[in-house]
Amino acid sequence: MIGNAEVKKIVEGYDQKKLAIGTLGSHSSLNIFKGAKEEGFRTVCLCKEKDAIMYHKYPLVDDLIIVKDFTELLSEKMQERLRKLNVILIPHGSFTAYLRTEELTDSLMVPMFGNRQLLHWEANRKSQEEWLRQAGLRLPATFKTPEDIDRLVIAKLPGAKGGRGYFLAHSPKTFHKKFGELVKRGMLKEDDLSGIHLQEYALGVNVYPSYFSSILQDDVELLAMDRRYESAVDSIGKIPAAEQLEIDVNPTYTVVGNFPMVARESLLPELMSMGDNVHKKARELAPPGIIGPFCLETVITDELKIFTFEISARIVAGTNVGIGTSPYAYLKYGENMYMGRRIALEIKQATSQNRLLEVVA
Ligand SMILES: Nc1ncnc2c1ncn2[C@@H]1O[C@H](COP(=O)(O)OP(=O)(O)OP(=O)(O)O)[C@@H](O)[C@H]1O
Ligand SMILES: [Mg+2]
Repeated sequence: MIGNAEVKKIVEGYDQKKLAIGTLGSHSSLNIFKGAKEEGFRTVCLCKEKDAIMYHKYPLVDDLIIVKDFTELLSEKMQERLRKLNVILIPHGSFTAYLRTEELTDSLMVPMFGNRQLLHWEANRKSQEEWLRQAGLRLPATFKTPEDIDRLVIAKLPGAKGGRGYFLAHSPKTFHKKFGELVKRGMLKEDDLSGIHLQEYALGVNVYPSYFSSILQDDVELLAMDRRYESAVDSIGKIPAAEQLEIDVNPTYTVVGNFPMVARESLLPELMSMGDNVHKKARELAPPGIIGPFCLETVITDELKIFTFEISARIVAGTNVGIGTSPYAYLKYGENMYMGRRIALEIKQATSQNRLLEVVA
C-alpha cells in the first residue's frame, strides 16, 4: 500500500502552480476535464487511439497520451511522465474495471484525488456490505445457500460486469433449474455455484444519488441524481408476456446511458442522512473517510423504503447527466456546477489553503 509519506514526497516535489488534472479517457472523463478547464487546470488524458476522436471534437485535453491499453498507466515510464506534468489523477469506473485493486493501491505512484484505502472496502462485497450496514442503511437480505431462498432473489456472480449472467429465482427449485440451464448454455460453470451471491430482489425503481464529500468544508453534498437505462432489462416490457415466456428472456443490465432524475422531496432527508452516515462510518474504517464523489445504488419500493445494494466511492458515469448543471447542484451553487467541476474546485481550494495533502492519497 502506498503510504501518506510517499504521496507527500511526490506532492512536495510538484510545482503546485502548474498542477494538472489527469484521468483515463473513458467513463466520465469529459465531465472531469470540462470541470478542470473551468477551474483553470491543465488536463492530461491517457486514451486509446479509437477514442481520441472525443477529445478532438471536444478540445478539453492539453496532453493527449495515446496508449494501447489502460494498464500502461502502471508502467514506471508513464508514471514518471505524469509526475513531471504535476498530475493529480481522478479515479473513475474504468480504473477499477481495467486495473486490479492491488495495482491501484500498491503500484500507482501518482497522487490520486480520493482515499486509496477505501478501494479495498469497496472491492469486496462482504466488506462493502459491512460498511453500509454499519452506517445504518437498509440492505436487501442475503441468503447463505440456495436452499434458504424463500422469496424473489437476484443471483449475482462475483466480478460480473453490468449484471451479465445475473438471474432471478424465487425458490431453491427455480434457482437450481436456472443455474443448470445457464451452465448448459455455457454462460456459467458448475463451480461458479459457491461464488454466487444471493440477494433479496428489492422490487421498486432504481435511484442513484451522487454525493460529494468535502474534506475542506467538512460536509457531504447531495450533488446529482440519475437512473440508468439498462439493456436488456428496460426493454423486456416492450414485448408481450407470451413472447417473453416463449423466448425465455433473462434480464441483463448493461448500462447504455443514464437519465437525470429528481426524487420526490420527502425522500431527500433520508437520502441526505444516508450520505452523511456512509461518510461518517468510512471515517472510522479508513480516516479521513470518503474524499470527493461517491454514489449509492438504491432501489426504492412502493412503500418508499430505500434499499441500498452497492456503493461506488468515486465519480460515477451517472453524474454525466449533470454536466453544466443539475437541480441539486443548482440548489447549492447556482448555475454551472457539476461533479467534474466540484472535484477541480476542491483541489484548487485545497492548494490555495495549503491543504492539498488532505485530499490526495
Ligand atoms: N437487490 C436488488 N434488487 C433489485 N434489483 C437489483 C438488486 N441488485 C441489483 N439489481 C439490479 O441489477 C443491476 C446490476 O446490479 P449490480 O449493480 O449489483 O451489478 P454490477 O455488476 O455492480 O453492475 P455495475 O458495475 O454496472 O454497477 C442494477 O442496476 C439493478 O437494476
Ligand atoms: Mg452496480
